[in-house]
Amino acid sequence: MNSQKWIRSLTRTRIRLLGGVVMGVAVIVGLWLFISRTQLAVPLLKTCKPECAPADAPYRRIDVPVDERIEDLLSHMTEAEKIGQLALVEKNSVHDLNDITSYGLGGMLSGGGGYPTPNTPASWLEMVRSFQARAQATRLGIPLLYGVDAIHGHANVIGATVFPHAIGLGASQDPDLVYRVAQATTEEMLATGIHWNFGPDINVVQDTRWGRVYETFGSSTDLVTSLGRAYVEGMQATSSMDARAIVTMKAYLGAGAMVWGSATNEDYKIDQGTTTEDETTMRRVELPPFQAAIEAGAPVVLVGLNSWKGAKLSTNHHLLTDVLKEELGFRGMVVSDWYGVYMIPGGEYHAVVTAINAGVDMVMLPFDYKSFVGYVGRALKSGDISSARLDDAVRRILRAKFAAGLFEQPTADGSSLASVGSDAHRAIAREAVRKSLVQLQNKNKTLPLSPNINRIIVAGSVASNLGRQMGGWTVEWQGIEGNWVPGTTILDGIKAAVSSSTTVDYSLDGSFGIVSSKANIGIAVVGETPYAEGVGDNAHPSLSATDLATIDRVRAVSQRLVVVIVSGRPLELPPESNKWDAIVAAWLPGSEGEGIADVLFGSYPFTGTLPLAWPR
Ligand code: BGC
Ligand code: BGC
Repeated sequence: MNSQKWIRSLTRTRIRLLGGVVMGVAVIVGLWLFISRTQLAVPLLKTCKPECAPADAPYRRIDVPVDERIEDLLSHMTEAEKIGQLALVEKNSVHDLNDITSYGLGGMLSGGGGYPTPNTPASWLEMVRSFQARAQATRLGIPLLYGVDAIHGHANVIGATVFPHAIGLGASQDPDLVYRVAQATTEEMLATGIHWNFGPDINVVQDTRWGRVYETFGSSTDLVTSLGRAYVEGMQATSSMDARAIVTMKAYLGAGAMVWGSATNEDYKIDQGTTTEDETTMRRVELPPFQAAIEAGAPVVLVGLNSWKGAKLSTNHHLLTDVLKEELGFRGMVVSDWYGVYMIPGGEYHAVVTAINAGVDMVMLPFDYKSFVGYVGRALKSGDISSARLDDAVRRILRAKFAAGLFEQPTADGSSLASVGSDAHRAIAREAVRKSLVQLQNKNKTLPLSPNINRIIVAGSVASNLGRQMGGWTVEWQGIEGNWVPGTTILDGIKAAVSSSTTVDYSLDGSFGIVSSKANIGIAVVGETPYAEGVGDNAHPSLSATDLATIDRVRAVSQRLVVVIVSGRPLELPPESNKWDAIVAAWLPGSEGEGIADVLFGSYPFTGTLPLAWPR
């Protein structure tokens, strides 16, 4: 080859080489663009990119200490995956279940009335399984937290045992009973695949006009502390294979001490209002139950919707971080309440940033998670929220998930469904009813009644109405009316308690027509209609005119009158009530109405005492 030919061939080779390099670069740039755009469009990759953690990664292993599991899992997580963990979404707001996977949602909940159709224990389990399956499909397979308000049993579920509301348990003053109620509730929750309960409410109640009085154990710090601790211990002690319950202490802090007329929600009067106590008083009166519950191992604190010192609690760095997390050493997670973060004025972005920096770890949105994910992403980019705060929040959320055994057993297998509403649990509920009854008045030894009385008449708005007997947070947020769920009415309990020779006549309003002779005993079962939260705020909780008229009619046709009051709080009684022979406070007894007859007819004594003052 002569030198000219050689030079030409060398040039051709160079050109080809150059072309190859240019092509290669173009392909790489194109690929990079494609991947980055795909990542922008899909918040999380469902496939294993960047890469799946290996099957034997420490976080997947039950033999590894929880703190190590948390750190390992955190080290595998992308920023988007961490942000998703902070979101707690109400189930009816997730219109595309694939969002559970693509957004890597941390938690979901059923608000009051958030049941599946049909509302059966089996369909609850099916529903939660379908959500958990979506969570399992994420890159790291982090299970969801699923929360419900099982505050008097798993009572959103038709067929569950409905225990007396907390105020009745307060009257029992019996920590051992409360422990067993919490255990039974947990068994019913876990049977339906649900780990997380938004309870107990360990607020110390100070104003009986508040619509949430019945959710609390009463007005004494010591009583609330001891029963709250028992409840936490009972829930924590219960497991079903690897699954354990997650208890929530609510509502932090001072929600029982809000001032009448201060509600920020214009439909309410006191709920979501302002607490005016100074910090010394708050620490003395409101804090001890939380301290005790933390010592007992409760993993979650729910932030109240109340304000203190001019701002919503979810903005309060001092109470959420300095006091709770640092001073009390709380290592669990802080969750905000229903839409609570967005109640902070100044726009949604500002609200999210303020709450998370104050110490809120998981945000009960509960509706729109897409905008939330955007806000947190933006705040991390701008430095408004630090990555250290994000990691701290995620650690706390993961700690609750590991503690509950969710990684080992995210749902249930259905083998325990029969425990929902089981005879054993109903027996505990009936015992709780007996122990919650308080004898307010007993003239001429009217009580206990003899089961052998000739004729008893029973009347009143709550005598044969399970819905009223159960109160709010039963099936629906505001409760239900009537007898279409399993349970025993107070009337049926009375009929079952008396001798075969006793006649029991019933009339809703006490109209027994013209009677030839008075009944030996008239029992009027009267009280409140169901309510929940601020809907139940009431300037004058008292017996209705209808109830008073019924009582008068019963009194006119019976030799002795017993009035049983079914209510979530003390009710004002009229002056003539001192002529009623006996008055019994039955609170909101739940599904097992026989517990009332057990005590009226003397099979068991009255042992309940008032958990808060009843003005006379
Ligand atoms: C209530 C909480 C409840 C939550 C979820 C809120 O409005 O204040 O007590 O746990 O809703 O239902
Ligand atoms: C939900 C409750 C919630 C309430 C707050 C209702 O629609 O069912 O769970 O506590 O809204 O306002």
